[in-house]
Amino acid sequence: MKVGNFEINNIYNIDCLEGMQSLPNECINLVVTSPPYDDLRNYNGFHFDFENIAKELFRVMKTGGVVVWVVGDKIKNGDRTLTSFKQCIYFQEVGFNVHDIMIYQKKNTPFMRSNAYTNCYEFMFVFSKEKVNTFNPIKTKTARHGIEKLVTNKKADGINKKVVGELKKEKTLTNIWSYAVGLGGSTNDKIAFQHTAIFPEKLAHDHILSWTNEGDLVFDPMCGSGTTCKMAKLNKRNFLGMEISKEYTDLAIKRLAMMPPELF
Ligand SMILES: C[S@@+](CC[C@H](N)C(=O)[O-])C[C@H]1O[C@@H](n2cnc3c(N)ncnc32)[C@H](O)[C@@H]1O
Repeated sequence: MKVGNFEINNIYNIDCLEGMQSLPNECINLVVTSPPYDDLRNYNGFHFDFENIAKELFRVMKTGGVVVWVVGDKIKNGDRTLTSFKQCIYFQEVGFNVHDIMIYQKKNTPFMRSNAYTNCYEFMFVFSKEKVNTFNPIKTKTARHGIEKLVTNKKADGINKKVVGELKKEKTLTNIWSYAVGLGGSTNDKIAFQHTAIFPEKLAHDHILSWTNEGDLVFDPMCGSGTTCKMAKLNKRNFLGMEISKEYTDLAIKRLAMMPPELF
């Protein structure tokens, strides 16, 4: 099956701006991606035309579709670049709703600065094209559940009232998600670490389950080692990946070839 010029469930070595220009309007359900923020030298110095990429993303997203944009800031001469916030504001200017600003917390981060607390997070901006049309909330077990006497809020009379109520067995996750990073955390695929900046498989998995249903099309325009594409397929979604670097494209294709062929 094709979308524009591209066979779905494939990864292409192409500048995503050029690639998106040959996609039709409103064809993508979900994007989970991480751009090459600030220090382009880490990514072989490729040009990154953020403004036009954001505009094209708006055009190709289905109404109700979601873009998860995972980004942090570099610190230059003691000053955070705020690229993350600037990009967030630009996404809103091109028409997206800022549906949520979530935090990707890294469980294991090395000590980095002598005069500031160790940074342990990146932002996960959740943009939507109009109102989000799919939300399958991930739940977590509550510490206590069952029938209990609950204390209601104090009213103006200052008296606490006790009522019998039921504590739920599970609750929806908060918008701060913590993941272990590194080998065995982000992924068990050793090959993926030939890329310098991967995000955890579980992060992609959790967003894919939250914002899509089986059979939907998940797109990563800057797919690096192919994490989003892999997790889309493992969760019975279709994927499309684009990556400007030939080296990383080959790596992502090799990584996906390690998956069971019956998934494709
Ligand atoms: C932070 S990495 C993505 C890593 C990915 N999330 C993973 O888990 O492997 C960003 C990627 O964007 C790619 N890139 C930069 N500019 C691009 C462009 N214009 N089109 C496509 N890919 C681009 C870089 O080569 C790099 O691999």
